[in-house]
Amino acid sequence: MRLRLRAAAFAGGCLLAFALVLTGTPAPAQGPPPAFTSTDEKPKDLPDGPGREETFYACTACHNFKLVARKG
Ligand code: HEC
Repeated sequence: MRLRLRAAAFAGGCLLAFALVLTGTPAPAQGPPPAFTSTDEKPKDLPDGPGREETFYACTACHNFKLVARKG
């Protein structure tokens, strides 16, 4: 009995997932673009110095540089 209930729940979940695939993902919300894109910042925005480009590109792989600059 327990196993049957589980099987039914599993089948239901599959059907739901399938229905979602069929109906497609909802259209992307219209509105302003995301607050940050990697092209918002350039190495030139930073004070000149040795290793500026390397640091910029190494660190902006994961987060924007303002996060770094904010910490001084
Ligand atoms: C592999 C990914 C990755 C790379 C590469 C990376 N960081 Fe980060 N860094 C993170 C994550 C994740 C956080 C946390 C972000 C948050 O708190 O929102 C963070 C946070 C920070 C913070 C803020 C810490 C705080 O206390 O708020 C500073 C400063 C920082 N990183 C500096 C750097 C510098 C400098 C570099 C390049 C040398 C760098 N990061 C490269 C992932 C990375």
